[in-house]
Formats: sequence, structure tokens, C-alpha cells
Amino acid sequence: MTRAVMVGLGTYVPERVLSNHDLERMMDTNDEWIVSRTGIRERRLARDDEATSDMAFMASERALKDAGVAAEEIDFIYVATNTPDTVFPSTAARLQARLSDSPIPGVDVQAGCTGWIYAIGMASAMIQAGLYRRVLVVASDKLSSITDYEDRSTAVLFGDGAGAVVLEARPDTEEYGVLATYLNADGRGAELLALPAGGSRWPASKDTVDSRLHFLKMSGNDVFRFAVKAMPDAVEQGLARAGLRVSDMDLLVPHQANQRIIDAAMRQFGLDETKVVKNIERYGNTSVASIPLALDEVRAEGRLQDGQVVVMAAFGAGLTWGSTVVRWGRGV
Ligand code: UT7
Repeated sequence: MTRAVMVGLGTYVPERVLSNHDLERMMDTNDEWIVSRTGIRERRLARDDEATSDMAFMASERALKDAGVAAEEIDFIYVATNTPDTVFPSTAARLQARLSDSPIPGVDVQAGCTGWIYAIGMASAMIQAGLYRRVLVVASDKLSSITDYEDRSTAVLFGDGAGAVVLEARPDTEEYGVLATYLNADGRGAELLALPAGGSRWPASKDTVDSRLHFLKMSGNDVFRFAVKAMPDAVEQGLARAGLRVSDMDLLVPHQANQRIIDAAMRQFGLDETKVVKNIERYGNTSVASIPLALDEVRAEGRLQDGQVVVMAAFGAGLTWGSTVVRWGRGV
């Protein structure tokens, strides 16, 4: 059997910084509330002319360069996103056209903030099945395009960004790469975090626009209660599928949604600060992009070493949750 090994990683965040103090001038909120309730100090916002596929392209180019792989050597593209450029065609198709003149099959994955985990799980399974040798997994979200800046309960949380990884087939003799994946979803919580209008249930109309139904709506307290259970479940289930224990985990890279949710997971497992990656302070919740952004930062800091067991865990709209367990390193 083969395994999918991460051979290249790249990320992108837009230049424009929106700080808590900027938000104070836009709505009835304050830095103290945002920092104490979420851990966020600032976030990045894409330009008006910068769409999800543009950020995906930047991150992909960096991941390909990091891998030393040309776009033409990619066999399949997954784009995890909740904010596609258009409902159709897919952002994966648009990204392919930017990356290469040769056709490459690809598809979008829409699984809330867990999209990165879902896409890696599916890419890894395709590689293990021998279907493809190299898969580009991209996570890109322009949440600012669906955030209601008149709703302080959600506006302060979200930011824009993208991340990408090149997965490559390797014989599993060295045990590098994706060791296990755990995916789950419970649609009974679908309405707790949703973009109500613009789909077939509630097509766009003057009424939906006037009622601000093209912005995301969230029942924050309910999602919070779900998250503090879903995160530990994701970590435990992923590790169990890899035949590992919490004590085997070198690094936890959690979805960066709220500092308090990350801290609750740390407490549950008695994890040392040094084993948990946090960068929510500077980017807010970038949805699918939050894990690759955190992973790239920790690598730049030199905290990500070959042979380490890295657990990535996320939760989000759906409701979805899941984890990926990786032994870091190219395995060559
Ligand atoms: O990746 C997507 C997943 N989403 C999440 O992970 C979100 C999960 N939920 C959360 O992170 C938290 O529920 C929030 C950060 C969204 C909210 O924190 P909270 O501690 O649950 O606050 P709350 O909603 O219970 O609101 C407490 C108070 C309310 O005022 P009253 O009713 O107590 O007077 C809110 O109106 O804080 C008020 N409030 C704010 N005040 C200042 C809500 N938003 C703000 C704000 N600035 N931005």
C-alpha cells in the first residue's frame, strides 16, 4: 500500500489588515470584548477584485514551488471552500486554468470549516487507492464576501486567506504522510451556521437582499457548545484510527475559530502550550484556510520537525468535524 506524503506547503493572506480598533470605528464593539471572547486582534481582508480562486492560486504556486513540482505534474485538484468564485463552475476549474494550459481534473469540497480535513482525507484515499500520484489540495475562503459588517456578533470573527499542500504517493514502508483521517457530519445542526439565501431553497431576490440573507448567520453559543465536544472527539478518533495515543502527538494544529475553544481542547488533553499551534490573534477565523496557515507558520518558526506526529482537527458548518493525523516529512 502507498501513503500520501505532504511534499509542499504554501499559504497566502491578503495585505489589508483590519484591526479590532478599525472595527470599533465601524460598529458597537471594542477590542477588550473581542480579545477576551475570541483571542482575535486583527484579520486580513481580500481586495474587492480578489476572489477565492485568486488567493487559491497564490497559495498553490507557493506549495508547488515548495514541492519542486510543476502544475502539469498534478493529477487532481481539490479546492476546499465555502465562498467559491461562483456557484458554478467550480473554483477548482478556475484555479486549473490559472495554473496550467493542460487540463487537470478537479472539484470543490464544501464542508464548512472542516473542508481542509475532508479534502486531505479524500486526496489521501485516492492516492492510497493508486488512482493518482500527485494531488493538489487547496483551501481558500473569502469570508469577508459573506460577512455582515452590520452584525457585530459575526463581523469581528472572520478573515480571508488560503493554504495549499501537494500530496504525493510514497510506499508506506517509512510511515510518513497521512496516517489516518476521521470525518463526521450531523446535518441536524445545519441552521446553526448557514448562508440562508442564494441557493435553490431560497433563490436570490430583492427580498433576500433587503433582508441581508446573503450574509452568513450563526448561532454562536450553540456552535461553541458543539465545538468544545467536536474538537476532542476529532483528536481522539483520528489518533485511534492511526493506532496512536494523545501522548504520541507532537503537535496539535486546531482550526482557529476561537482561542477559548482551542484552550478547552488543550485542557481536556492536558497538553503543553508548546504542542498546540495558535495564530488566531493575527488572522481571525479564516475557515478552511486556518489550519494550513497555522501549519505554515509553525514550520517557519522551526517547530515542525520531520518524524513528528501532527494532528489537524477542525469543526464547522454542516455541522461537520474531523481530523487528519500526519507523520511530518517527505519520506525520501
Ligand atoms: O468556524 C466557524 C465556527 N464558529 C465558531 O467557532 C463560533 C463559536 N462561537 C463563539 O466563538 C462564541 O459564541 C462567540 C465569540 C461568537 C460569542 O461569544 P460568547 O461568549 O458566546 O458571547 P455571546 O454571544 O453570549 O454574547 C455575550 C454578550 C451579548 O450581550 P448581552 O446580551 O450579554 O448584553 C452580546 O450582545 O456580548 C455581546 N456581543 C458583543 N459585544 C461587543 C456580541 N458580539 C459582540 C461584539 N462586541 N462583537
